[in-house]
Amino acid sequence: MHNYDPRVEYHKWYYDTEVWEGVRFHGVVTNKSVSDMWNYQEILFELKPALIVEFGTRFGGSALYFSVIGRSINPQLAVLSVDVSHAEVDPRVGEDPAIELMSCSSSAPEVAARIRKLRASKPGSVFFILDSDHRKAHVLAELTLLRDVVHSGDYVVVEDGNINGHPVLPQWGEGPTEALEEYFRMYPQDYERDTVREQKFGFTFAPGGFLRKR
Ligand SMILES: C[S@@+](CC[C@H](N)C(=O)[O-])C[C@H]1O[C@@H](n2cnc3c(N)ncnc32)[C@H](O)[C@@H]1O
Repeated sequence: MHNYDPRVEYHKWYYDTEVWEGVRFHGVVTNKSVSDMWNYQEILFELKPALIVEFGTRFGGSALYFSVIGRSINPQLAVLSVDVSHAEVDPRVGEDPAIELMSCSSSAPEVAARIRKLRASKPGSVFFILDSDHRKAHVLAELTLLRDVVHSGDYVVVEDGNINGHPVLPQWGEGPTEALEEYFRMYPQDYERDTVREQKFGFTFAPGGFLRKR
């Protein structure tokens, strides 16, 4: 018997018709679910981070969102957004005084070094969001790199665990969900899964990916 779940059907419709490709913040494209963005806003208000670290900039709509919303909560906020290439970034993102664009792979050791340096100059909690190369090996490398720079109380979101059939793009191959499964097998005590946040709006592009550092 087919188990009809309207949340799953809405999720598939939202993803497969590429609603998320047309989402904009201040006119700049951000490839996200808008309910996830609202959830991030609520998390930021509770966390009041001094620093937001994003892996995967693309057009920069999400970096701009994190800067504008984050600075309305903490005017001292800095945003570090890492991508292998910033060729596609909207000029308005580069002009934002709080955003630093770092061009290299998010699993490179210099990323950890830069985060450590920023943490030293911006004491306080950090919100991390992983939204770059979604293949399992890369997400696992990012999570492993973060082990040295994430502190207790920080928040980490691992995006796009919905691919590879969770429930979209069933043929994609191993991605963030499989990386998280392997990471939790290796380091079961690192993070507490924030299932209340994850389930708040019925569906998320980051299933299993709302994590609070213990
Ligand atoms: C899904 S897009 C990011 C979307 C953006 N965060 C948003 O919400 O609008 C993924 C980005 O990851 C970048 N990327 C791919 N491999 C990467 C890597 N190894 N390190 C850092 N960024 C990478 C791509 O260049 C691309 O711009």
